[in-house]
Amino acid sequence: MSVDLLKQLDGVFADARGAIAGSKTDVELESVEIDLLGRKQGSLTGILKLLSTLDDESKRTVGARANQIKTEIESLLAARRAEIAALSGAGAIDISEPVLPAPEYGALHPITMACEDLSNFFRAKGFLVLDGPELESDFYNFEALNIPADHPARDMQDTFYIKDHPTWVMRTHTSCVQIRAMMKYGAPLAMVAPGRCFRNEATDVRHEHTFFQFEGMVIGENITIQHLKGMLESMAQHLFGVNTKVRLRPKFYPFVEPGMNGEVTCTICGGVGCKLCKGTGWLEIIGCGMIHPEVLRAGGIDPKKYSGFAFGPGLTRMAMLKYGIDDVREFNAGDLNFLQQ
Ligand code: DAH
Repeated sequence: MSVDLLKQLDGVFADARGAIAGSKTDVELESVEIDLLGRKQGSLTGILKLLSTLDDESKRTVGARANQIKTEIESLLAARRAEIAALSGAGAIDISEPVLPAPEYGALHPITMACEDLSNFFRAKGFLVLDGPELESDFYNFEALNIPADHPARDMQDTFYIKDHPTWVMRTHTSCVQIRAMMKYGAPLAMVAPGRCFRNEATDVRHEHTFFQFEGMVIGENITIQHLKGMLESMAQHLFGVNTKVRLRPKFYPFVEPGMNGEVTCTICGGVGCKLCKGTGWLEIIGCGMIHPEVLRAGGIDPKKYSGFAFGPGLTRMAMLKYGIDDVREFNAGDLNFLQQ
């Protein structure tokens, strides 16, 4: 029996050499490979399957020869495959081949670019760049920010609520991350928190139900409005150029005292007066102020020891000003003509 099998092996090997050398394409070679080594019906595989029926001695001789042949067949297959590839002229130029259209590359969304730009600016100054949930609790979005349930300020921030979950809201601003950060890191602290926000808005060129803000906050001992103004100035000059000036005007926000509106010299006319700034020379870009003691307390920070400032520009609005985009709805429209500019 074992002599028979050794003969059969030699036969298989001789045939294999002929078939491999005679293959002219990858496809032919592959079918030769399957005929020899295929798991179900390969001729060599068939012989290997018989090994278990042999006595120990024959198993050893036939097994050794079969494995040797298998290795040789495998290297013949590999060598022939390389020859076929070389012969088929891989790498040669086929001048009759039609030209493919240029590949289309994606690009970063303008909001992403503005966000990375500002995040890097603050990261370089040692600020943490933090994230917070878009589906927030009423506590972080309103209560802890000094906006109790019956406060009229809630009217200005009507949002989307979640069915059967009366205490959850789609966050109306990124200010909620202030509280989360205070609770997690304590004072002193410097952080920014970019993110998506939602409001129940009728949309027009300036309003969207889904938009982005860029919250910032610094807490420490003896932090004052001067720190806030200096920081806003360097941020505005980074965004809009070194000649940009900043002014602060009083405005009410429940979570800061005093609250202010940060304005920059108009990015179009430089302060002379034009259509964009409605002739005033100034653009409102940022709500800001000194963090209200109640808010510090809600975040677990002692307002007698620490003070801080906070600011929350609309990231969407920054991107509009920086890149000269005049319709906010473009950002969510998914229009490639807009996005590819
Ligand atoms: N959260 C405010 C809004 O959405 C913006 C804002 C105002 C953020 C004052 C602040 C701030 O951090 O101090 O309208």
